[in-house]
Amino acid sequence: MNLMSYQTKILDDSPSSIKQAAEIIRAGDIVGIPTETVYGLAADAFNENAVRKIFAAKGRPADNPLIVHISRMDMFFRAAKELPEEALRCAERFWPGPLTMVLPKSEALPYVTSGGLQTVGIRMPSHPAARALIEQADTPLAAPSANLSGKPSPTSAAHVFEDMNGRIPAIIDGGECRAGVESTVICFENGAARILRPGRVTAEMLRSALGRVIIDDGVLHAVDDSAPAASPGMKYKHYSPKAEVYVINSTAERFREYAKEHTGALCLVFEPSDAPDGAEFICIGKSGEEQANRLFAALREADERGAKTVLARCPQKSGVGLAVYNRLIRAAAFREITL
Ligand code: TXA
Ligand code: MG
Repeated sequence: MNLMSYQTKILDDSPSSIKQAAEIIRAGDIVGIPTETVYGLAADAFNENAVRKIFAAKGRPADNPLIVHISRMDMFFRAAKELPEEALRCAERFWPGPLTMVLPKSEALPYVTSGGLQTVGIRMPSHPAARALIEQADTPLAAPSANLSGKPSPTSAAHVFEDMNGRIPAIIDGGECRAGVESTVICFENGAARILRPGRVTAEMLRSALGRVIIDDGVLHAVDDSAPAASPGMKYKHYSPKAEVYVINSTAERFREYAKEHTGALCLVFEPSDAPDGAEFICIGKSGEEQANRLFAALREADERGAKTVLARCPQKSGVGLAVYNRLIRAAAFREITL
């Protein structure tokens, strides 16, 4: 397949553009789409050839499964075999929204989509353009994040264009993503939720819905490549900017002193006063929500500015902060320095 054979069009999110995008999907091709979390690369989840084009465009390993996106509950059973009580409770509470549930897949869903697994990750996005496209295409859409494998997830149509220009026929521009980090991914274990990837639906929110929540080891630590991972995505290198990133776990004051001793490093901070005078910095905000919203764009910007070393303040490991920490520590190849 010639990967650079497209004149990639940027469509707006008007009804006529959505219709055009739905025709591309129905013809067995792929489209870059906005969701409330990050942009996705979407194809008909039941069309094996179309799904293969997603893996080719991203350079994604074939054993890393795709999330299937639905717009109505009656689409749920096209992709999944069963809806256990705890999953129903989560669907009622958190859908449409940034929660992906891993459940036994339906017979009809191709193994290409599920990365060879018997399970499928399903979510109902809340972004109106994503929902309208699923409706128009009248099929669940398989969609991973629309970045090249190993790059930060795209939170704007411009980021998708950077990575996918020439590789896909079209991108729907639905504005900047509100959430900024990918959905929370969970599976179920004896009625409890196991968090495989943290996101905007936090451990605390899941605990209040289900009572019991387990945070998978892979959320906070490197996964052993040789062992089978609960979520295959966690074993691949992720979110890596070109710069060497270090997560600095300390007070603002100690961070400033450390950064002063490492001149030339770009500081990724919560507020401008975290950075020493004269240092280059990118500010991602004080709340977990702001940080989630800005992190991926900040990592892309660090590359654009040609940073060799990035010193990042360590986010809180609770609430939405856990998702920010999880992405940042991967960008840092697990280099965390506690001062
Ligand atoms: O917010 C999101 O989830 C975005 C938007 C586009 O919806 N999508 C996204 O997809 O982040 P992707 O492919 O970049 O990440 C999906 C993650 C991967 O880590 C994958 O391994 C995991 O979900 N996953 C998918 N299906 C799974 C399954 N059946 N079992 C375990 N993990 C699964
Ligand atoms: Mg991804």
